[in-house]
Amino acid sequence: MANTTTASPSFTSYISSLFQRKVLRTDRSRWNYQYERGSWDGLEKLDELPRFSIIAGLIQFLKPDAPAILEIGCGEGILAQRIGRNAYSSFIGTDVADAAIQRANERFGDDKTVFEAVDMNDYTTSQQFDVIIFNESLYYLRPMAEKLAGQYIPMLKPGGIMIISLNTGPHADGETKWNLIDTLFDTLDKTLVETTKNGWIVKTLTPKVSQS
Ligand SMILES: C[S@@+](CC[C@H](N)C(=O)[O-])C[C@H]1O[C@@H](n2cnc3c(N)ncnc32)[C@H](O)[C@@H]1O
Repeated sequence: MANTTTASPSFTSYISSLFQRKVLRTDRSRWNYQYERGSWDGLEKLDELPRFSIIAGLIQFLKPDAPAILEIGCGEGILAQRIGRNAYSSFIGTDVADAAIQRANERFGDDKTVFEAVDMNDYTTSQQFDVIIFNESLYYLRPMAEKLAGQYIPMLKPGGIMIISLNTGPHADGETKWNLIDTLFDTLDKTLVETTKNGWIVKTLTPKVSQS
């Protein structure tokens, strides 16, 4: 007798979801899938607020004169909104996920706030910035130290600052990353942000080799 067993709808959707999340490994499709299904909606919740608030406060304090800002891995543009459009002259946010970039442009895009879909490993520009931010996104720059040094430090204006946040959990391998980062930058400020659900170190950095 033929085997007529069929997979249940919930099993099928579980496999499909597993495939999309774990097997679909191109960065762009995986991140798009996650944003489209709302996996990152939690970034706008209360327990993530302090991380954004610290970064916004650092920029407002250290660069009060309408800085040009570049954010790498900006997701749906929450940080631009938290900083506030009156606090910068220009804000470019980039992310590999077109779905997140589209939402960012719809909600926060204006004449001085622009979001672009681009892989951080390929991003180039002739512009220079007062502030460059990797807020929970440096994990995806590979090889990290080489690309920070060769690709991103040259995008800083003289006197410019880089702000990097890394999760304090073991999966982030923060110690190894901070050790590498510390070979390239001096630390102007280090802040530990802890909420009921999560923790991050946020460092404000200046390149050891100054830009011209
Ligand atoms: C953990 S989320 C952080 C989003 C946002 N910065 C925040 O703090 O809420 C990581 C972000 O990095 C983006 N990302 C991952 N790989 C990337 C890549 N290769 N180039 C650009 N962005 C990337 C993801 O799409 C995602 O928006």
